[in-house]
Amino acid sequence: MSQLSTDKLSVAFAGLKALSDVDLAIKPGQITGLIGPNGAGKTTLVNVLTGFQAPTGGAVSMNGTALTGLKPHQIRRKGIARTFQGGRLFRDLPVIDNLEVTGVGLGQSRASARAEAAAMLDWIGISALQNRIAGTLPYTDERRVAIGRALIGKPAYILLDEPAAGMSGPEAAELSALIKRIATEMGCGVLLIEHNVGLVLNLCDHIVVLDSGMVIETGPPDAIRSSEKVRHAYMGTAAETNLPVLEVLA
Ligand SMILES: Nc1ncnc2c1ncn2[C@@H]1O[C@H](COP(=O)(O)OP(=O)(O)OP(=O)(O)O)[C@@H](O)[C@H]1O
Ligand SMILES: [Mg+2]
Repeated sequence: MSQLSTDKLSVAFAGLKALSDVDLAIKPGQITGLIGPNGAGKTTLVNVLTGFQAPTGGAVSMNGTALTGLKPHQIRRKGIARTFQGGRLFRDLPVIDNLEVTGVGLGQSRASARAEAAAMLDWIGISALQNRIAGTLPYTDERRVAIGRALIGKPAYILLDEPAAGMSGPEAAELSALIKRIATEMGCGVLLIEHNVGLVLNLCDHIVVLDSGMVIETGPPDAIRSSEKVRHAYMGTAAETNLPVLEVLA
């Protein structure tokens, strides 16, 4: 079966259980939401899926084949791409070079990497930014460039770590439309980590809720919206980012 999945995945940091027996599956063409309060383990999960963090238990597999022990660049070549919570572009390089460098890193010739980079910027609708120095972009554009870079080489899966953080309503809506197109037009399997739970409920086919490293709920948006466990998990935390979440839960 075609999917990226974890089986009883666990990560412990010197006694702190960041993830405990997490089962999750991301499917081509679908958007899977991953939500949970600050420190729930969301980024740690993406780090394990992309080879940046070794698990202390359990396994990651793609289409039935284990990915255990592979390095980040090897996982990227297998078609699993990500963005980072902070963007992480090459700030001194023009936008198009940021994408081209990734294509070259994946083994393309410079000419074909350049052509794919240009086509990708066009597909996203940001061709006008191609010669801008990445470090000078407003962060809404920076995020879209980071997503474009992750899509170079046509990955089967893309993992987005808080792509809408700090965006206004209209900016987040525009980003939502892009994420939807990644799933429907590219057939990519998307994992979307977001504190903007309204956005996640609107966009995702399936949602997984983490709290203190454990999956406390999974299901379609309606089930999450009305879940007492989810509401309770967010109520137990004082962080400001978690407060608006309670407003969109039933
Ligand atoms: N390298 C590390 N060493 C030690 N502890 C870590 C490390 N990385 C994460 N942690 C801890 O693991 C837990 C999960 O962190 P993680 O960053 O995965 O949470 P998160 O759900 O992404 O949070 P946020 O919503 O704030 O981004 C936290 O308690 C965090 O402090
Ligand atoms: Mg995080």
